[in-house]
This record gives sequence, structure tokens and C-alpha cells, in this order.
Amino acid sequence: MTSPDTEFISIAGSTSGSPDTTFTRTGGKTLPSVLPILGLSDVVIFPGMVSPLLVETAQSIRMIDDVVAGDRFLGLVLQKKAEVENPTPEDLWGHGCAVRILKMLKFPDNTVRVLVEGLRRFRVIEYESQDPYLRARLELVRDTVEDSIELTALTRNVQRQFQEIINLSPAMSDEVKVAVLNTEHPGKLSDLIASNLNLSLEERQHLLEVSGVKERLNRLLPLMSRELEVLTLGSKIQREVASSMSKSQRDFFLREQMRVIQRELGESDPLLSEANALREQIEALQLPEDAKKVALKEVERLQSIPPTTPEHTVTRNYLDWIVNLPWSKRTEDKIDLDAAARLLDEQHYGLAKVKDRLLEFLAVMKLKRQLKGPLLCLVGPPGVGKTSLGRSVADTLGRKFARISLGGMRDEAEIRGHRRTYVGALPGRILQSLRRVESHNPVILLDEIDKVGADFRGDPAAALLEVLDPQQNSTFTDNYLDLPFDLSRVLFITTANWLDPIHPALRDRLEVIELPSYTAAEKLQIAKRFLVPRQLEEHGLQAGLVKLPDASLKRLIQDYTREAGVRQLERAIASLARKSARKLVSAGGTLRPMTIRPAELPDYLGPAQFVPEMAEAIAECGVAIGLAWNPVGGDILFIEASRMPGSGKLLLTGSLGDVMKESAQTALTFLRSQSKLLNLDLTDFEKHDLHIHVPAGATPKDGPSAGVAIVAALASLLAQRRVRSDFAMTGEISLRGRVLPVGGVKEKVLAAARAGVRQVVLPEENRKDWVEVPPEVRDRIKVHFVRRIAEVFPLVLRAS
Ligand SMILES: Nc1ncnc2c1ncn2[C@@H]1O[C@H](COP(=O)(O)OP(=O)(O)OP(=O)(O)O)[C@@H](O)[C@H]1O
Ligand SMILES: [Mg+2]
Repeated sequence: MTSPDTEFISIAGSTSGSPDTTFTRTGGKTLPSVLPILGLSDVVIFPGMVSPLLVETAQSIRMIDDVVAGDRFLGLVLQKKAEVENPTPEDLWGHGCAVRILKMLKFPDNTVRVLVEGLRRFRVIEYESQDPYLRARLELVRDTVEDSIELTALTRNVQRQFQEIINLSPAMSDEVKVAVLNTEHPGKLSDLIASNLNLSLEERQHLLEVSGVKERLNRLLPLMSRELEVLTLGSKIQREVASSMSKSQRDFFLREQMRVIQRELGESDPLLSEANALREQIEALQLPEDAKKVALKEVERLQSIPPTTPEHTVTRNYLDWIVNLPWSKRTEDKIDLDAAARLLDEQHYGLAKVKDRLLEFLAVMKLKRQLKGPLLCLVGPPGVGKTSLGRSVADTLGRKFARISLGGMRDEAEIRGHRRTYVGALPGRILQSLRRVESHNPVILLDEIDKVGADFRGDPAAALLEVLDPQQNSTFTDNYLDLPFDLSRVLFITTANWLDPIHPALRDRLEVIELPSYTAAEKLQIAKRFLVPRQLEEHGLQAGLVKLPDASLKRLIQDYTREAGVRQLERAIASLARKSARKLVSAGGTLRPMTIRPAELPDYLGPAQFVPEMAEAIAECGVAIGLAWNPVGGDILFIEASRMPGSGKLLLTGSLGDVMKESAQTALTFLRSQSKLLNLDLTDFEKHDLHIHVPAGATPKDGPSAGVAIVAALASLLAQRRVRSDFAMTGEISLRGRVLPVGGVKEKVLAAARAGVRQVVLPEENRKDWVEVPPEVRDRIKVHFVRRIAEVFPLVLRAS
């Protein structure tokens, strides 16, 4: 027997059974002394209260039926445990309330609702029967009211306190307020309050059991103070919460209200129109089905997220990316080989082989009409035009161009993007480039692919592999976008200074085109045709205003730069342009054309940066010039040997690698075994240490190709014959005195030429590489091919 969820308000509505009147006046009928007893699980009924009850068990329903058919009187007693379904006398408290059923309603779910009116308190004397339901003999309990001023004062006090409670409880109904104001009788007042105050079932039951009105009121007072305290605290909390409601919340409410108002006025809802605009854009995009579905779903979501939240911005950005990617935008290829050849020549001087190779590539592309071909990789020293050639390829095809610098990239997310859940997440560089160029078939230059690193943030090379693999890249899935995007129509071109550091799986896929270093003559042409005009223009100097004669450019190349490419040269020219601009402007008046002569270069750029080393001709024994080669081009290398008293040790300094140290050992062993050949005096060999040093000690050097030069330096020291200073040499040596071939011959010879060397010694087996050296350099340098070390000595050692 529970009270229905919607608790009716118990009021002292009916006066017919006032607790203070005699029980003979309960609706005109006398309360019998034996009543059927209904156990209540969650409510205590007080005399004078009208309350609904829900009756569920078959036993109780039968009882109600009987009661309604008879005099309608019933005893209600609280159960000690709410969950007992058919309580026995032991489950029930000893006091209850006699009630009259005012109304009964049967419901289709076989439950019964009754409206009861509390009449009198009673005490159970004994239970007479339990079957079919409980019946008990009762003693009706009268309220004892003493007529005293104290009671009046107590009543007023209780009344006033309850008024305060009512004022603080917005949920309390008006009927209760009215009833309290109009109830003078202290007994009725105490019951009215007891049934409306927030009390536990036990507290209520105790109040029911007390017959003395004064005691009831006294018990109520502390309970009411407690309630008052709780309510005051509650309203304080509420006030504080309300005042701390943040501005953003207020804004949110206001905005929501504005939306509703706008909708009422028939004006468009900004969120809705934003969403509709996005939908239109998405429909127009020709997205793949899957992507479209995802996009539309996101729009749906966007509409339901308040615009002031970060979530809204995140979703909005995401949709922005989808809408702005070139899903269907592309450029038409124009492959006209003649025009392409012309364009390449217009933009780059020389590089005939490279250009040929590029044109072949374009021809194949035209025939196959697709790109699943080789992946080009332009390899060469810095500043030889790799990056700018990539751009030219895009121009010849009429495609958009994007460059992604991979130098120092260590984070996989740079390629593949960050998941959207990260704050400030973005797609990777590939998608960023595509969005920027607004075409899905641009040329993308992956610059410096040899400088990709890997660390804890993942391996960008692995992500690159996926991007570059024609089998996989048609469904490239960026972490941010989380949708496949077709990259198969992008033409990827890569560049590198050298191939060694490139991830093997990646290197395997590359079609290498090598760009050699430039000769001085080539640099002169590049400067004349491209660098000078471009720099003058960039510095606002009209054609003809500043002249740089060939002689000046040659001096610039020779004395102010030493490099494989033309980057330093371009910088030097830029510097000249800047300084001449200043000179012209500060001279005032009309600008008069000026010429920069070779002799004036130090005025502009300071003293020459690179005095040709040959000028400081080798003045001592034990020094030889070797040739080195590294990713930034070739260079010459001085090798110095000296001898001092000691114990026959060999010292090596100058950041030499293991291979280079071993060739020094080999050189020494060979010389000792062949001392007769050179008339070397090795009698005191054990009493001396030998020291070999290669200057520029901070730069690491390695490789076997310095063998010949080391042997020459040692021989020169031991034989006390100087090495001729116009000679440079390269070649690996064997213990048996053979000279073995080396790599990078062309770069080395070009470096030798730059340094003013006149004659070079090369291994016989490198004869084939000599042809690769540009003719104008071959004309200037005399070459000697050798098979054995013994052939080197008469060439390079001066007579003592
Ligand atoms: N053959 C050439 N004709 C005309 N200009 C050239 C030529 N080679 C290089 N340049 C110019 O030299 C400058 C440097 O070239 P670029 O930046 O392409 O070098 P790079 O090979 O990419 O070097 P890095 O390896 O350092 O990236 C550019 O301004 C380029 O236009
Ligand atoms: Mg570059």
C-alpha cells in the first residue's frame, strides 16, 4: 500500500471527522471497535488529512472491496519494513489512524486507488483474525489538550515558524498555506504540520503515537527548526549558483532565446542557414559517397552544438576542411614536348642531360596518360637548381606547384596530420598543400627527402612511403580528415643532396636524376642570364642601370664563392645590387648608370674570401693535396705528415674516420716494405713517431680515397722531397701497392679546378669518369692515370 507518485495534498478539507470531536460524529456513524487493518509502506496518515492510496495486492483489494461495501471504515498502520507485501501483526507498528474511504477507483492494471480521510488515532489492542485479511480490536486515542497560556504561546510559535518554512519552500501548495493560517486548534495544527513537513516515516509515526497535544507541538519545534535551517542554506546556495552563472551560460541562454524569437518572427536561424549553406556546398562537391555521408552527418551534428562552445568550432573547422579540399578541382595537363623543352631552357641554363631525362619522362607520361610510373628524385649538391627545376616541371605541365620541405621533419603527423581530438589539430602537409593550390593534380616537390628524421613521434618516412606508393595512395587517409583522399593524380618529385640516408624502401622507388656541380664557366652563364637580371630587378634596379662585366662575375665566382651550386654566388650578387642601389640613391639627382669593375669588388664585398690555396705553394716536405667528395660537392684536402723522436707510433688527428685511419696504416706499411724503391732511410724508424693530420680538424672525414695522398705525404716526409704544389691526387691503395678506383671523380676534379690545381692523379680505372668532366675543365687540367703507387712518386715528388 503505497501512496501514488503524484502525492495529493493532504489538507484539513473535511471537518466531518475532526479529531477533537467525539467519535460518534464520524460522518454520522460510530467507529466500530474492530476494524480491518491495512499496512502502509511509505506514508503515515494523520487525523484530518485526506490522502490517496494505491492498493495492489489481491488480499488488500479484497479488503477494500468489503470495506467499501460496508461502513467504509478502515484502520491504517505503518509497516516496520516497507518491502513486506502481506504484513502480519509483527510487521506493524502498534498505533495507527482510523480512516474513512471517500472514493475508490479501479484501474485496468488490477490496482485500486482510494482516497481516504483520516479520522482518529488508535492503538491496536489485539489482532482478531488474519484471514482473509487482518482485523484488529482497537482503542481510539483522544487528543489531550490542556487549556493554558503556555499552549497558546506554543501554538503561535509553531504557526509562525511554519509560515517561514512555507515562505522558503516554493513547492508548498497554496492550500496548505491557507489551511495553516486558518487552523486555530493546536491538535489539528500539529497534525497538519506533521503531515506536510519534510519528516522521516519514523518521525511521523512517533508524532502519531503521541496523544498529548502540547508534547506533539514541543516535538515539532526542533524538527521545524531543522527544516528551516536546511531551507535557508538551500536558498543561499541557489543564490550563489545563480550569481556565479558564467557569462557564457548567460550568453548561451540569450542566444537560444534569440533563436526562438527569430524563428517565431519567421526570420532565418543563423545556425540553420549556416548548415544549409554547408549542405549545398557539400552537394556541389562531387565527394565520394562515403565522404559525403560523413560530411552531411557532421553538418547535422553542427546544428545541434551551441555556437559558443569549442566543440562547435572544432566541427566547423573540420567541415571547412572537407569543403575546401579539391575533391574534383583539377588542371588540364598540356604536354607539348617542344614547348616544354623551350620552357626548361628559358628557366635553366645548361643541365642538358637532366632536361633530356625530364622530357623523356613527360613523353612517357603523355603516352601512358597516367602517373603510376617512376618517382623522380633530383639528386645533387646544394644550389644546383633541384628545387627550381621541380617548379619548372610544374610549369611545363601547366600544373599547380607546391613544395613541402622535409628537412628536419621528425613527426609523422606532419605528413599524416593529427587526430581531430587534439587541440588545434590540423591535417598533414600533403592535404594542406592540396587545399592551398586548389587542385588535386598538382606537382608536389618533396624537398630534401634525405633529411627526414625519425624519433618517438613516429617515422615520417613510413608515412611518406604510403603517400608515394601508387598502390596505396589512392586511398590516402589523413588522421585529421579521417576520410580517404585520392593522391594518385598528384605528381610527386623528390630532391636530395645524396641518396645514402634515404630510407631503403623509399630509395628503392626513386628514379634518380643526378645534377652535377657547375663549372666556373657554367656559373658565369647562369649568373649573366638569370641571377644578375633577377637580383637587379628584385632590388628595383632597371635594366642597364648597374652593369656587371664578365670579368667582375668571374672574380666573384673565383674569389668570393667556393661552392658546387650558385647559391652563394646569387647572395653575393644580391649584396652587390643592394649596395649599388644605396650608392645610386644617395648620389641624388638623376640615376646614372654604373659599372662594377673587378678591382672595385673589395669596396663592395670586402677582401676576397677565398685566396686560391695554390698560391701558398707547398713549401715543406710532408704535405700533399688530396681530393674529397661529400654531399655538398667536392673539395681539396691538405694532408700533413711530420716526424719526431718517439717509439715508432703512428698518430692520426683531424677527425678522421676508421676507414681513413686504416688507409694511413696501409700507406705506412707499404712504404716500409718498399723503402728501397724510394731510397728511404728507415734505420731509426723505431726511435721516431709519425703524425698525420688533416686540417679543418673539426670537419669529420672518412673514406679510402685519400690513400694516394697520404702515401705521397709520408713519402715526401721520409724522403725529404717536397710534393709539387700544382698536383692534387685521389685513389685508394692496397698493401701490394695497387691504386684502386674511387667515387665522385667529376665533383673532385671540378673542386680541384676551382682551387686552381693544374694536374690531377687519378686511378686508371676511373678513366671512364674523366669523360664526364666538362670539356672546359678537362682542357685546363692535366690528368695522370696510375695503376700502381710506384708510378705516383716520380710524378709528384720534386727532386730533393
Ligand atoms: N641551371 C640553372 N639555371 C638558372 N638558374 C639556376 C640554375 N641552377 C640553379 N639556379 C638558381 O640557383 C638558385 C638555387 O637553386 P635551388 O634552390 O633550386 O637549389 P637546390 O638544388 O634546390 O639546393 P638545395 O639542395 O640547397 O635545396 C635558384 O635561384 C635557382 O633558380
Ligand atoms: Mg632545394
